[in-house]
Amino acid sequence: MEYILSGSVKIPVLGFGTWKLTGAACVRATEQALETGYRHIDTAQIYENETEIGTVLSGSGIARADIFLTTKVWTENLKDGALQRSVDESLKKLKTDYVDLLLIHWPMTDVPFAEQLQALKSVQDAGKTRLIGVSNFTVAQLREAVEIIGAPLVNNQVEYHPYLSQKPVLDFTRSHDMFLTAYSPLARGKIMDDPTLDALAKKHGKSISQIILRWLLQHGDVAAIPKAASVAHIKSNFDIFDFVLSHEDVAAIHALARPDGRLINPAWGPVWDKSA
Ligand SMILES: NC(=O)c1ccc[n+]([C@@H]2O[C@H](COP(=O)([O-])OP(=O)(O)OC[C@H]3O[C@@H](n4cnc5c(N)ncnc54)[C@H](OP(=O)(O)O)[C@@H]3O)[C@@H](O)[C@H]2O)c1
Repeated sequence: MEYILSGSVKIPVLGFGTWKLTGAACVRATEQALETGYRHIDTAQIYENETEIGTVLSGSGIARADIFLTTKVWTENLKDGALQRSVDESLKKLKTDYVDLLLIHWPMTDVPFAEQLQALKSVQDAGKTRLIGVSNFTVAQLREAVEIIGAPLVNNQVEYHPYLSQKPVLDFTRSHDMFLTAYSPLARGKIMDDPTLDALAKKHGKSISQIILRWLLQHGDVAAIPKAASVAHIKSNFDIFDFVLSHEDVAAIHALARPDGRLINPAWGPVWDKSA
């Protein structure tokens, strides 16, 4: 495993995404992920799987300190008081006293950013999360958030894969000592017939998914959280630490970005940064 360092906190660059995994399928996949070696798990209040993940983690025999666990506060829980109560509920489901990273899931403006962010920080001050950050924030929103809360915001989790450039957001996170987490890193499976990626896969004797994940990890300040239900996918996505993409390979993948590459775009989402 390779790590990103945020202050004294080590974040495994490869995590396990769990959106759409619920019930027994979530239990099976998360157990398989831990057995494979994943130690970074991404969940959210809205995924309705915190209970299953808590059961798997607490029964795994793996020390809590060896797991990096992220959850996200849903849009209905952003008011001061409600946010803290929702995190207590998440911790109860996750069967732990703290998460490693707590994120605001989407930038909603019905509650002032200052109120949401101060509430988020109060959870950190109470020792219930080691790190705090946001998700789906644009550069303008990140700038506003950092101005309000200052240094402690360390992460923005955004959609990022070869078909979607995140250059403006990356420029911002890099210049503010934050790291970026790439969600939907495999473009939800919609990128598996790309000829450039196929040629790189053949060149390195790897799969297209492995090429994409390796490309993300070689950024150095980007973590990737692919989701997989199948055992074969869970294992093969982890098998990316034995090869290196060249400078030319990396540039060829960056060149695949398209203006219409975004997949997750709800009507109530922000006006995204233009980046390709
Ligand atoms: N913050 C946010 O707003 C936000 C939004 C979206 C996602 N996320 C997080 O990011 C995680 C990952 O994103 P995602 O679930 O949207 O999509 P993803 O990880 O890009 O893609 C998941 C899809 O790819 C397939 N897949 C996985 N490994 C594969 C492989 N080696 N070869 C071929 N296909 C493969 C999976 O199939 P199987 O499942 O059948 O194996 C599944 O259909 C989520 O689970 C969630 O934790 C966060």
